[in-house]
Formats: sequence, structure tokens, C-alpha cells
Amino acid sequence: MQIITDPAEMQAIAENLRLQRQLIGVVMTMGALHDGHLSLVRIARKRAGIVIMTIFVNPLQFGPGEDFERYPRPFEQDAALARSAGVDYLFAPEPDLMYPGEFRCTVDPGPMAERFEGSARPGHFKGVATVVLKLFNITKAHLAVFGEKDAQQLAIIRRMAADLNIGTKIEAAPIARETDGLATSSRNIYLSSQEREHATALFRAIRHAETETGRGRRDLSAIAKEGLAIVSSVPGSSPDYLCFVDDDTFDPADQAAPGKAYRLVMAVRIGRTRLIDNWRFVCEGESGTRNT
Ligand code: PAJ
Repeated sequence: MQIITDPAEMQAIAENLRLQRQLIGVVMTMGALHDGHLSLVRIARKRAGIVIMTIFVNPLQFGPGEDFERYPRPFEQDAALARSAGVDYLFAPEPDLMYPGEFRCTVDPGPMAERFEGSARPGHFKGVATVVLKLFNITKAHLAVFGEKDAQQLAIIRRMAADLNIGTKIEAAPIARETDGLATSSRNIYLSSQEREHATALFRAIRHAETETGRGRRDLSAIAKEGLAIVSSVPGSSPDYLCFVDDDTFDPADQAAPGKAYRLVMAVRIGRTRLIDNWRFVCEGESGTRNT
């Protein structure tokens, strides 16, 4: 595995790989690698001949008072994990090389970026879309794997790739979870052991929604309200949002219609740590009228 820190060098290598007709897959991360990140690498390995992993704690996507400074950066450990997962190139640029003094242009990700994570974290998705576009251009990847853990991010990146004719195929990876259901996250280390137990309430709300929709209920806003009661019942929890949305547009959804896909999305603060989770649900039954 080769470690590259200079964007120009990474771009030249990628250009060369393309000339050699290699299929490039990229997995973008902020490091502090865990099983979720490594599951993305496994998917990339299956689909591409060359796998590039990027590790960059992107200052542009952190708001004031967020955890940019204290975000974990265990680089040596990450490099060892990436190497054993079969990454070919690890691109870990310095912030000054990604955002030199004269840097001005950013991506406006549009209305989907205004709600949920976007309204809780103003400017967050502008920062994400900008760095992701830069990393597409630097790595020249044919395909990129993103996790469903960050479902709104994934939806915005899909929209950007289509709207701006990026040409990189976007693949989604399922959410990796701990044995008790908590979604694996680099931020889980901030939780005390008691908070860690309380954090399972997010998955309990998901299981509740799964059971209730499985019984045929279609009243999504009522099911979400019950989920909200579950996460609110644990000490020290403070939910930001918990509701069902249309899976493509992230428009809030009250009632499920047959044949359509929805997603239960949530952000809950447990103590000082903000956790996100989600679950996709396809409403069974006939969609629309049938022509015979
Ligand atoms: P980061 O939080 O490090 O996540 C990197 C990738 O791993 C994202 O696609 C994310 O959805 C995925 N991921 C994280 N936890 C996961 C889990 N439990 N299961 C499956 N996939 C998981 O997301 C970012 O970094 C940044 O915003 C980035 C896209 C790199 C831009 O800076």
C-alpha cells in the first residue's frame, strides 16, 4: 500500500492508472477506521481492480463548536487497518494542500441539504459536497462506496453526481452495527459506559418501526412518535429529530403508499454525543393502477 499526501501526486497516479485501463474504486473517510469503513473497502475490492482510501478530517464540514479539534486521528493504526483490508493507495492530504489560502469555490448542494442534518449543522453538507467533489477529481474513481449510515449524505452525493455529470458510480453499503444494534461510529468512543447502554435506544426505535410496519401499519407519523417516546425514555437523551422521510427526496412522510421506499431517520444526543441512525422501509403492495 502506498501512502500519498499530495493531491497533485494522487491525481497523476490516478491518471496513469486510467491510462493502464485499471478500474478505480474509492472509499472516502475521515479516519478512526472501524468495521463500517472496512465493509466499504470489501465492497470496493469486489467491484474495482484498484482501491483508493482517502483519510481526511475535512474542516469545511465541521461547524463552530463541533468536534473538529478532538476528532480522533489514530493515523498509524488506520494505515495498518487499511493495508490489511487490501487498500492499494491511502490518500491522506494535509489541510493546507486541500484548502490553500486562495481557495474560494464551494458546492451548493441544494434544498436536500437544508433539512435534518443540514438544519442541525448549517453548512455541513456544503462542506461534504465540496470535499467529495474534490476527492472525485483527485482520485478519478470509476466507482465510490458510501455507507447508508449517513443516508442523507448518500442521497445528496447521489444527487450531486447526477446533477453535475460526475460519471463516478455511487454504491451504497449497508449499516454495520455492534452486536447490540448500535450503529458502528468513530464517535461511539465519546460515550461513557452508561451512555453506551442508553445509546441502544436508537436501535430499539428502529426495531419498533420494523415490527409495526411488518404488522401492516402504514401510519408513519404515529410510528415515529412511538419511536420518539422510546429514545426520549432513556436518561440524558435529547432527540434532535426522528421521523419518516421519502427515501429519494428526504421530504417528510406521514402515511406509507404501496410500492414506495421510506426511511426512518433520527439524530439523538446521548449526553454530549450526537448519534445518527436510520432504517429503510419499502411499503409492500401494488403501486398505482394497473393497465391490462
Ligand atoms: P466518515 O464518517 O469517516 O465515514 C466514511 C464512510 O463510512 C461514509 O460513507 C459513511 O457513511 C461510512 N460509514 C460510517 N459508519 C458506517 C457504518 N456503521 N456502516 C456502514 N458505513 C459506515 O462520512 C464521512 O466520513 C465524511 O463526511 C466524508 C464522506 C469522508 C467526507 O468528508
